[in-house]
Amino acid sequence: MKRQKLHFYDLHSTRDEFASDVISGLSRRPATIPPKYFYDARGSELFDAITRLPEYYLTRTEIKILYDNADDIARYIGSGSLLVEPGGGSCAKVRILLEGLKPQAYIPMDISKEHLHVATQELATLFPWLEIHATCTDYSREMRLPPTVPRGTRVAFFPGSSIGNFDPIQAIDFLKALTQLIGPESYLLIGIDLKKNRSVLESAYDDSAKVTAQFNLNLLSRINHEFSANFNLDLWQHRALYNEELGRIEMHLVSTCEQSITLNNTLFHFSRGETIHTENSYKYTDEEFIHLANEAGFQSEAIWSDPEKLFSVHLFRS
Ligand code: AVI
Repeated sequence: MKRQKLHFYDLHSTRDEFASDVISGLSRRPATIPPKYFYDARGSELFDAITRLPEYYLTRTEIKILYDNADDIARYIGSGSLLVEPGGGSCAKVRILLEGLKPQAYIPMDISKEHLHVATQELATLFPWLEIHATCTDYSREMRLPPTVPRGTRVAFFPGSSIGNFDPIQAIDFLKALTQLIGPESYLLIGIDLKKNRSVLESAYDDSAKVTAQFNLNLLSRINHEFSANFNLDLWQHRALYNEELGRIEMHLVSTCEQSITLNNTLFHFSRGETIHTENSYKYTDEEFIHLANEAGFQSEAIWSDPEKLFSVHLFRS
């Protein structure tokens, strides 16, 4: 009998944190909503569209770096590892590495169950030799491996510059949690968006086709649908700016007039020009990022980059 190679685990708590995060975030001034809530079905679709935009150089640059250096990466890590990918819902970039790395098992972790289901089924068809342990969990809150994963060198794969969506203190805490998950003598392969010219950065987050604007505004549609709130999307504007001092792109939604919003029987008032801060995307130099990773207990092994130094992929050892 053929052994089942795709396993699915739902470790995500059903407690609804979205409502309490939104209510407490909108009560603050300036108001904030955590970026992890961008990714409902429509938000995930819009994010996929962002990754194909001409202005959003991050995805295509990282993919090219991974393609160009897949053999070298595999030489460092060796075969037979356990490849863990927090947030690996689409299982897209990992495909570039699988043939070279020949891991013993792949463990994608993602908050979006549907997304993970579809992507891992496709992956299992494309790579029938690969053992997959798909794990539905909110990795920003807790990281646990499913109980049945085999032994082997653990490799955490965290592409896409997703680390940039944490502030540097949270990023160190997240990397420390990763070291707990993968243990000593393990690897971290991570994608970093590099500091660069303001106009390149700002157009990547405020594209001419307005896809990023729709992605940002979709957060309000999601709140309207899930909590019968009454945000009027025509009265909010997308804003993306590079805060050079803090080294981050900030995304905000700006209220274009005086308005009130009702959500779960709570009234929120916004005056004209008031903002909801929806995302930070930190940019680093290679040296700054190595310093940050050192704080979490990782040692730099190798760095791969593109000729224009837009993006880099770092390999660390725990
Ligand atoms: C997922 N994350 C790394 C993206 C970024 O670039 O910070 C999210 C994003 N927000 C707007 N465009 C893309």
